[in-house]
Order: sequence, then structure tokens, then C-alpha cells
Amino acid sequence: MSEAGAATIQPLNAPLKGDVRVPGDKSISHRAVLFAAMAEGTSHLTGVSDSEDVRSSIKAVQQLGATVDLESDERGALRGSITGWGAAGPVQPDAPIDCGNSGTTARLLMGMLAPWEVKVTITGDDSLKSRPMRRNTAPLMKMGVQFEPAEADRLPITELGCPHLRAITYDAPMASAQLKTAVLLAGVYADGTTTLNEPSSSRNHTELMLPEFGVPTTAGTRVASVTGPVIMHAADVHVPGDASSAAFLCAAAILKPGSSICVKEVSLNPARIGFVRTLERMGANITDTREGAQGKEPFGSICASHTQRLHGCEVPPQHFASILDEVPILAAVAAHAKGITVFKGASELRVKETDRLQAIIDGLELVGVDAWEEGENLYIEGDPDLTIPPGVVFDAKGDHRLAMTWAVLGMCSHTPVEIEGFDSVSVSYPGFISDIKTLEA
Ligand code: S3P
Repeated sequence: MSEAGAATIQPLNAPLKGDVRVPGDKSISHRAVLFAAMAEGTSHLTGVSDSEDVRSSIKAVQQLGATVDLESDERGALRGSITGWGAAGPVQPDAPIDCGNSGTTARLLMGMLAPWEVKVTITGDDSLKSRPMRRNTAPLMKMGVQFEPAEADRLPITELGCPHLRAITYDAPMASAQLKTAVLLAGVYADGTTTLNEPSSSRNHTELMLPEFGVPTTAGTRVASVTGPVIMHAADVHVPGDASSAAFLCAAAILKPGSSICVKEVSLNPARIGFVRTLERMGANITDTREGAQGKEPFGSICASHTQRLHGCEVPPQHFASILDEVPILAAVAAHAKGITVFKGASELRVKETDRLQAIIDGLELVGVDAWEEGENLYIEGDPDLTIPPGVVFDAKGDHRLAMTWAVLGMCSHTPVEIEGFDSVSVSYPGFISDIKTLEA
């Protein structure tokens, strides 16, 4: 790794084989940490992702007065306890809360802080400061929260909570679990039922976990409600493996001849494993097998093996949210498939850690694959004989999922590739390269 965080990724020496566990699910880890901090009493957590993003949530709740006692276990996950502020509320922090690269931390905090008489400035790194926030502040303002500047769409933003929140029914303009969660978390303290309607279903970890912390919650297709006010109580949460991390390993196994792997104890939440359904539709050898549930979160194994003939497919807009974070790696697989793959309704990719829509198009162009955008759709014309030309330098643009996507392309080719900003993998999956090496052995 160079000083600028660049890396040279070598082609794999051997097929990927065997079983592997991936770090705890990042979305569930954030919620376990944040909900424990809001609750009265001491929550016990295991399997929490030890990634930069989740560390941003941990630091934030410490600044707000929660007592965090988490340490690394033998598998590199965080385990331990968090004692929350409960009915007393958070303390006034003496400095802005820096959420680093983590949109989930920033947007969920806005909901958590809504009912309390604190004045908190939320900020982040350059990537996070370029991402839209008005989607969150708009419904919270309807509930009575104030923001400075009131019209701001970008961090830093200062939030002034409101002790008498109004319960609302809100029609979200886009499917966003971060927006949905912020509104529901504010709703925990509002008097009455707060309801969030979505144009299509975003991930539902909040709705599944809030009842464990004592919050009456109902959820249906494209709708979720909480009834407040309630004081959340402590809960014990075990976090299953991250399906989004598993997606990179499965894609590598599908592309590398001779490979056959199983990712064990991974989340099988249907809102998160759209990539398995998509890869199936491309003809890939991939299966998921349910083995149990942690709370209401299903988990099990995802097994994938090398697939000779992949073909393009179409992902309809109503399924887009279930592959939201996996589009870059699915695009890398689509680049090897016969025919055109279409991701419909893909515009949310523009406001991720970087503009992923453009980054996918630019990255694939470097290896001679045609990808383009038309309307809100992303098109990729695959090439089953794709060979990566020598000397390719990808730019991860500080985006962990792009870094791993370009790494998988390089590993499964015959020539090394250079990736600028590869060190961003630590945002979600610091052990990515070592897990690949374990499977390669
Ligand atoms: C997340 C929601 C998604 C996803 C992000 C994590 C969450 O964003 O892209 O990586 O944990 O709630 P949206 O808010 O756009 O759904």
C-alpha cells in the first residue's frame, strides 16, 4: 500500500475455495450501537462490525454521553456493552460530531437528537459533506426540529431538538432506509403514531430491531410506523455477517475458474440479498440457505462457484433498493456476461459515497466495457471474453465499494491492476484482502 492509499492488486494464484465468515453487518451494527445508546440500561452486543463507519457511530454516542465498553473478540468483531442515556437524554457535546464517511451515522443521529434540548453540529469528511441531507431535515422540521441553516442540504448542519415532537405521516420522495430510520427514531418520542410511506421498500433493519428495544412498531410493504412516546429499554443483539461484504467474495468466486466458496452466518434479510437473486438471473451458480434468525433477522449461508456462461438481465426499479450497495460489484459481473444488463431506477447511486453511477461507467470504460446511463437506468454491455488490458489504474474515489469492485476485477484477470484510494476498504471491510487470501490458500 502506498502513502496515498493506492494498491496493486495481483491476479489470484489459485481458485477460491472453502468456508469464510464476513464481518458483522454494517447497517445492523450501526443500529445496535445507536439504539443501545438511546435506551435505558445496559445492552449487550456481539458480532458488531469493527469498521471505520461503525466506529463513527460509536464515537458519536460517546460524545453524547453513552458509556461504551466494546472490545475486539477472537474473530475481530466488537463485543461488549453500551449503557444508554435513556430517559435522561444525551449530554450537550462540547464539539461538533464528526461522522467521518458514514451517512448512516449522520442521518440516524438527526432522528435520535430530535426530541432533546441539545444543540449539536453534525459534520463529516469531504465525501459526506457533499451528500444531500435535506431529505432528512425536511420531515424532521415538520415534527418540530430546527436546523441551522434551515435550508441547508449539506453538512455541517446544526440541529436544535424539540421536546414536544409532533407525530407525522410522511411520504418519502425516495426509498431510503436512512431517511425512514431518522423519522421513526424521532417518532419514538412523538405523541402518537408516526408513519413513513416509501415509493419502494428500503432495508427494514430498524423495523425489525426497534421492538427488541421496547418500541411498538408495525411494518408492511412500503410503510412503517412507530407509536410514541416510549422510553427505549436495553436489549441484547447479535449481529449476523454482512451480506454486502459477502457479495464481493461471491462475485470473485463466480468469476475465477475452479472456485467454490460458502459464506457462513451471513444475513439473509431479503431486503439485502437482492444481489443473490440478480446473480441467479444472470445464470450464476449461487444459493442461499437459511439456518436461523438473530432476533427477527434471518441468517444462513451463501454459496457461490465459478460460472462459465453468464448472461445479462434486467433489474426492475422496485427491486433496486435490495441491490443498492451491490450495484458496483454486480456491474463487474455483468461486464463478463453475454448481452446487456439493465439496472432500472438507479439514480440514487449518484448520491452515495461518490457518484457511483459515473464511477462505474468510467471504471468499466478503462477495461473496454461499454456502460452508459439513459434516463434513470444503468446499462452494461458485457463481454464473456473480457480481458483486462495491462497498466489499468482505477480510481476508487475514496469509496470502499468501488475499491473492492475494482479489486475483484483485477484478481479475476490475468494482469495486475492499480487502485488509487484502495485503503477506503476499511470503511466497511478492513479484512477484505486477508479473507480473499484465506480462501485462495
Ligand atoms: C443504509 C441505507 C442505504 C445504504 C447504506 C446503509 C442504512 O442508504 O446505501 O449503505 O444502514 O440504513 P439509503 O438511505 O439510501 O437507503
